[in-house]
Amino acid sequence: MAKPRVAVIVGSNRRDSINRKLAQALVKLAADEFDARFVRIDNLPMFNQDDENDLPAEVVSFKNEIGNADGVLIVTPEHDRSIPAVLKNAVDWGARPYGKNCWAGKPGFITGTSPGAIGTALAQIHLRPIMTGLGMILLGGEAYITFKPNLIDSDGNIGDETTRKFLQDFIGRFADLVTRLSRPKEERSAA
Ligand SMILES: Cc1cc2nc3c(=O)[nH]c(=O)nc-3n(C[C@H](O)[C@H](O)[C@H](O)COP(=O)(O)O)c2cc1C
Repeated sequence: MAKPRVAVIVGSNRRDSINRKLAQALVKLAADEFDARFVRIDNLPMFNQDDENDLPAEVVSFKNEIGNADGVLIVTPEHDRSIPAVLKNAVDWGARPYGKNCWAGKPGFITGTSPGAIGTALAQIHLRPIMTGLGMILLGGEAYITFKPNLIDSDGNIGDETTRKFLQDFIGRFADLVTRLSRPKEERSAA
């Protein structure tokens, strides 16, 4: 059976983003469980409701990528105790126009890293009700990751063993959720 397909969104447009590095390491952890595709958000124009009935090409492509995915992994920094503007912009494009919300029904896993001790907790706590309000089915648990120099090793893997095991558990549970929900309805009710 084909592996489920997961869209990966990094909530940062910074060239050397630590969240992109974490996302890449998570994708490596998940290599046997799902096929991951990074979806760009840094090329999306600023949301304007005037444009929602004649969507810019980048937005159409973004919404299609999410719409075609079986699940969404969001790895985000914290900006001023909330989510970065570039991520909120992508969320809003995904949600609009009314009736074309690409987030609805998608299983999601939210995590993120920052050098601060709370490891993006407040950003994630803001993001969860936004995404559940849009109909996403979010993985339970809290994955707040403090970025330390050894978090990602020179091969791009999670260098710290405790953190690797912690995140491997999340990835395994997320893969289960995505697999279960991506099965046709009839198969799910028979299981
Ligand atoms: C505008 C701005 C606001 C920030 N606010 C926070 C914050 O509220 N909490 C935090 O832990 N770090 C904060 N930081 C520091 C980020 O955690 C740090 O820049 C991190 O590298 C961002 O992730 P990225 O490298 O993936 O872009 C902020 C950084 C910027 C540029």
